[in-house]
Amino acid sequence: MATDNNQERFRGYRGVGRATLERFEVGVWSEVVVHTADGEYQGLILPRSETADERHMVLKMASGYNVGLAFERIEEMHEVNRREAHYKIPEKEFPYDPGKPSVKLFGTGGTIASRLDYRTGAVIPAFSPGELYGSVPELADVCNLQTEKLYGIFSENMGPEQYIGVAKACAAEIEKGVDGIIIGHGTDTMHHTAAALAFMLQRPPVPIVMVGSQRSSDRPSSDAALNLIHAAKAAAEGDIAEVMVCMFGPTSDEYDLLHRATRVRKMHSSYRSTFRSLGERPLAMVSSEEIVPLRHDYHRREPKGRSEMKAAPVFDGRVSIVYYYPGMRPDIIDSLVASGYKGIVIAGTGLGHVNKPVYPALARAAKAGVHMYMTVQTLWGYTQMYVYETGREIMELGVIPAANMLPEVAYVKLGWALGQTHDPEKVKEIMLTPIAGEITEREPPDGYLVYQGGLPEIVEFTRRVRK
Ligand code: DGL
Repeated sequence: MATDNNQERFRGYRGVGRATLERFEVGVWSEVVVHTADGEYQGLILPRSETADERHMVLKMASGYNVGLAFERIEEMHEVNRREAHYKIPEKEFPYDPGKPSVKLFGTGGTIASRLDYRTGAVIPAFSPGELYGSVPELADVCNLQTEKLYGIFSENMGPEQYIGVAKACAAEIEKGVDGIIIGHGTDTMHHTAAALAFMLQRPPVPIVMVGSQRSSDRPSSDAALNLIHAAKAAAEGDIAEVMVCMFGPTSDEYDLLHRATRVRKMHSSYRSTFRSLGERPLAMVSSEEIVPLRHDYHRREPKGRSEMKAAPVFDGRVSIVYYYPGMRPDIIDSLVASGYKGIVIAGTGLGHVNKPVYPALARAAKAGVHMYMTVQTLWGYTQMYVYETGREIMELGVIPAANMLPEVAYVKLGWALGQTHDPEKVKEIMLTPIAGEITEREPPDGYLVYQGGLPEIVEFTRRVRK
């Protein structure tokens, strides 16, 4: 028991770090005043991850931000208060209102799934309806919420198995007659999962809204609650019955944008407004008051009980994406073929190019029956391989241009296509037939400028669209 308590008291701190905490008679969840060579700090000592280095201590400041302090620079430290760690947030019963739509929230993990509760001191999944209601009571104004944890992983660990798992779980809920679905997901690869679901669940009768957060809910600047409230509104009341991503529009807490699953991409490592629709306008903006469509060519919510959804939860994981760089050698392609990969999506330069030394490897891959598709690193614009002689040569070697499909989307679609067939003509037909907006006839001329610019441009744009 004493060992357990000790483990808890020094959670994640070892070696010199733990020795320093012991020397000053403080531990995890001690509120301390620290004197260092660089000045004085006051805050709460946070637990460290098992894999973190032993030379630093993490302090949660009153501002909500964390600072790392090097143990070797600490001259003096004393405890002014100590918190108790309770590993649960209070559950409040989620009220049931027969007049409100029913929404199912699936959790897969990521920042939105966890809440570091500094009052109580634990990393906890806020998942049961009661816990969510305890943290975000506004959800009850919008819907009757049910929750289910499918996975508890960071999104870099999502993959084909999970795509299929989430798609099947959504299909089962739709079968039961739910009015909308929310999927909580880590932001890093949310656009991969969104695309996979858009192919696996075509024409869903209700909205399927993916949501995450860039900052965890213990931070004052967290986007978690607002994203969740807006996602619930889109899922419960919205008319857009597609797989979408709901994340901050501008950098301020004003509204979220709903992005089509196959045109969205995470574009900034830390901004809350990180998700952008590329080569396309977002579907709508959503605030606590309203959902304002920014376009009208979307799949609409079906009347209750009707569904034309086509579910195809399949994926062949023997697919890779190759991001071309100048100087790339042919062995990159050869080694994929030798390892048994059946599909390769290339993110080429400009209109869709790779260097000459790679050509023979492409020919060998084609001969081995590997399906190869070209996309562009520029993200905006189309693969156009007829413009230069080199593009034509690459096509002759067996690489097929994938129009304006985003590289990650083409990767996901190829995995999904190969889950159904390996017949090259059929794969090509699937790849080049737009199914969920992944290939568009044209890209909006204003989109490129508007969506890269941030707040002023977006505000101006949405003001014009709403007129
Ligand atoms: N690695 C990140 C992920 O799951 C955690 C941060 C986040 O949820 O955005 O995508």
